[in-house]
Formats: sequence, C-alpha cells, structure tokens
Amino acid sequence: MKIIILILSAVVFVECGHTFMGTNVLRPLVQHHKAKFSSYIFRKRVEYYNYTLPRIYIVNGESIKGILAYDLTDSSASANITQGGIGYNYFNLRMKSERGKKLYYDIYVYV
Ligand SMILES: *[C@@H]1O[C@H](CO)[C@@H](O)[C@H](O)[C@H]1NC(C)=O
Ligand SMILES: *[C@@H]1O[C@H](CO)[C@@H](O)[C@H](O)[C@H]1NC(C)=O
Repeated sequence: MKIIILILSAVVFVECGHTFMGTNVLRPLVQHHKAKFSSYIFRKRVEYYNYTLPRIYIVNGESIKGILAYDLTDSSASANITQGGIGYNYFNLRMKSERGKKLYYDIYVYV
C-alpha cells in the first residue's frame, strides 16, 4: 500500500484533506485505525478520534513521533490534532467532512 511507503521527516503537511506530522522514518507503527462515518444530509459531520498509547509504551518513556491521517474520500474533509500529539502519549484528532459528505480516514500512529 502506498501510504506505508510514504516516508517523511520532521514536517507538518496538510494537503487535500491529508494531515501528517512528525516523522515515521524507521518508526514502528503502533496503531492503524479506519475512522468511517456516514454523511449527514446538508451538514458537515465532525467526529473525534482520541488515542492514548498503550501502557507498555508509556512506562518505557515512549511518546508519539508521527501521526498520519489519510483522507480516503475525494472531498475536502479536514483533520486536526486538537490536543496532545507529537511528544505526547495521546492525541485528539478532529475530523470534519465536507457538507453532505461522509468521513473516511485512515489513521496511522508511530512511536
Ligand atoms: C474526544 O475528545 C474530544 C475533546 O477533545 C471530546 O469532545 C470527544 O467527546 C472525545 N471523543 C471520544 C470518542 O472520546
Ligand atoms: C485545521 O486544519 C485546517 C486545514 O486542514 C486549518 O485550515 C485549520 O486552521 C485547522 N484548525 C485548527 C483549529 O487547527
């Protein structure tokens, strides 16, 4: 899958609904989540994906090094980290659909 090959370092990019921050160079993937929500008629849909690292990583002093939210719809959805994120052991990701469109994000977390 092409997302796995996407390697970036120390950047933040937001493009066409995709959001990437931190780095995934040689970082293990700790979480892959598909966030899929149907559309609301005439309305934007806002949903959160809140993630906390498993305890085993936290006790080892690990923190989140990379977050990729890949928009699988071809709409102008957007995704933002609203709390936590790089350097933390948790984050809240806010996803917002285009009016009347569904939300479908592929979320990858690296430590
Ligand atoms: C995620 O966190 C936000 C606050 O940032 C909160 O409004 C929302 O209810 C939380 N969602 C879940 C599923 O816990
Ligand atoms: C969320 O991300 C969009 C781009 O996808 C950006 O324009 C907007 O300012 C961000 N909002 C917040 C609250 O960070």
